[in-house]
Amino acid sequence: MYRNFSIVPKIMFGRGAFNQIADILNERRIGEGAYMVFVIDDVFTDAPLEARLPLENGDMLLRVNVEDEPKTKYIDELVEKIRAFNPKKPVGVIGIGGGSAMDIAKAVSLMLNNPGSSADYQGWDLIKNPAVYHMAIPTLAGTGAEISRTAILTGPEKKLGINSDYTLFDQIVLDPELLVGVPKDQWFYTGMDCYIHDVESLQGTFINEFSRAYGEKSLELCREVFLGEHEDKDDKLMMASYFGGMSIAYSQVGACHALSYGLSYVLGIHHGIGCCITFDYLEDIYPEGVAEFRRMMEKHDITLPRNLTKNMSEGDLEKMVTTALGLVPLWENCLGPDWRNIMTRERTLELYKRM
Ligand SMILES: NC(=O)c1ccc[n+]([C@@H]2O[C@H](COP(=O)([O-])OP(=O)(O)OC[C@H]3O[C@@H](n4cnc5c(N)ncnc54)[C@H](O)[C@@H]3O)[C@@H](O)[C@H]2O)c1
Ligand SMILES: [Fe+2]
Repeated sequence: MYRNFSIVPKIMFGRGAFNQIADILNERRIGEGAYMVFVIDDVFTDAPLEARLPLENGDMLLRVNVEDEPKTKYIDELVEKIRAFNPKKPVGVIGIGGGSAMDIAKAVSLMLNNPGSSADYQGWDLIKNPAVYHMAIPTLAGTGAEISRTAILTGPEKKLGINSDYTLFDQIVLDPELLVGVPKDQWFYTGMDCYIHDVESLQGTFINEFSRAYGEKSLELCREVFLGEHEDKDDKLMMASYFGGMSIAYSQVGACHALSYGLSYVLGIHHGIGCCITFDYLEDIYPEGVAEFRRMMEKHDITLPRNLTKNMSEGDLEKMVTTALGLVPLWENCLGPDWRNIMTRERTLELYKRM
């Protein structure tokens, strides 16, 4: 069975594109009392970017904190905050930030039109009603959250996305100028998320020409960005992120993502750095990818944290193993239908113990 998947219908790309968001939003400001909610990463509090937002009378500036990756409880609180701000629904939600802020904007725009808690919708196609119009303006590149059909959330029982066609943004504005000023380590970790998407997609058993076309171009761009010297490297990384996301949309990620979910669920380690930590131990599965990744780390003088699992209880280690091995499609993509005999609990535990 082939999937019939939706993609983001409207995309603006280019340096300074941010200056045009007022025009895009004005088309949506229809009717009395129409207002927008700007969901912005609080790293930009009082920064020039925040001052450039085209806020109009009645709009809401909603600063969000992403120290912890988005939790369902936090989403529910933010939705309540919007309802308290104005009992009328906004006509648009605009997410400005990295993968976390973008996922918050997705989840909030969905929950404004769906009853209950966001935790009720963690899974596949559980959302009943379309979201409020939502737009993303990434300020970090790599996750592919700008084009994916999921909003990844940590809930009371699991870390799992709200996956649905309604999750997709209605509009994205990709302005490479917004990547200026990202701390180098963060730039590298989030960029490597994209590089790893490409390797896992291209080397997976689910690969097809659709995913290969996007994955190969994304990989080429990542090499230019992380191994070369290019003035327009930010433009390249933004497109690499988009193409990497398109590649996995029609294939799947693999072992590195599965294992990093375990690290993130139990230790709260963020996605980008978690993928980097994990990838460094996967030379048996992705020999060329890991060798190239290490050259990239060396070039950018990146040191990864070690001994993360040293003092962990057996119970927590087991919980990580269970989380990782629960991601069945990722393992099937990586190792094929016989994956359970290849990636046993023992082998997974050994890998975690080395981290
Ligand atoms: N929906 C998806 O398809 C998808 C895919 C992969 C990851 N994710 C999610 O994305 C998140 C990771 O996203 P990320 O790697 O982009 O990082 P992030 O959004 O978690 O941000 C990382 C850090 O960078 C800061 N930051 C963001 N933009 C900045 C800028 N321009 N200048 C300075 N600092 C800036 C943030 O405040 C934060 O401290 C995780 O929550 C993960 O679950 C989602
Ligand atoms: Fe990822």
